[in-house]
Amino acid sequence: MKREASRAISFVVNGAERTYKGPAFKRLIDVLREDFGLTGTKEGCGEGECGACTVLLDGKPAASCLVPVSQVHGRKVETVESLARGESLNPLQRSFLEEAAAQCGICTPGILLTAWSWVKAGGSADPEAVRKHLSGNLCRCTGYQSIVDAVVKTVKKRRAA
Ligand code: FES
Ligand code: FES
Repeated sequence: MKREASRAISFVVNGAERTYKGPAFKRLIDVLREDFGLTGTKEGCGEGECGACTVLLDGKPAASCLVPVSQVHGRKVETVESLARGESLNPLQRSFLEEAAAQCGICTPGILLTAWSWVKAGGSADPEAVRKHLSGNLCRCTGYQSIVDAVVKTVKKRRAA
């Protein structure tokens, strides 16, 4: 146990190299929130079902409540804190604001990251395709139409730019 507790795990978080020292099986969500102070990542079910804790792992959505921190050694993690630049929202965040796609906000960081992976990868503006991509992220407040509308709007804006 002692050897495990002192193991250093290094990975890139939001573009910066970070090192964590502690139990290798600590959940990634807890390391992000408790050790690195990145509290934008939210916990819902804690069982891999709701998507609230989604981060991007090497650019792909992953449930950080299911990932032991040891599995991210040498990899790249992006949290919701990576999206805005200071006071300047990223285009997807702006669309969420304009379309009122967030209410309580618990699901929002995870949905933003799942949706951002779609937008960045050049995903289509087809609402059904967007819904399918977001199917692992649950929201109990808004219904999904405004969320899908915000993603579609962002894709269209990027294509028009
Ligand atoms: S909190 Fe991780 S999937 Fe629900
Ligand atoms: S905004 Fe409350 S759960 Fe989605």
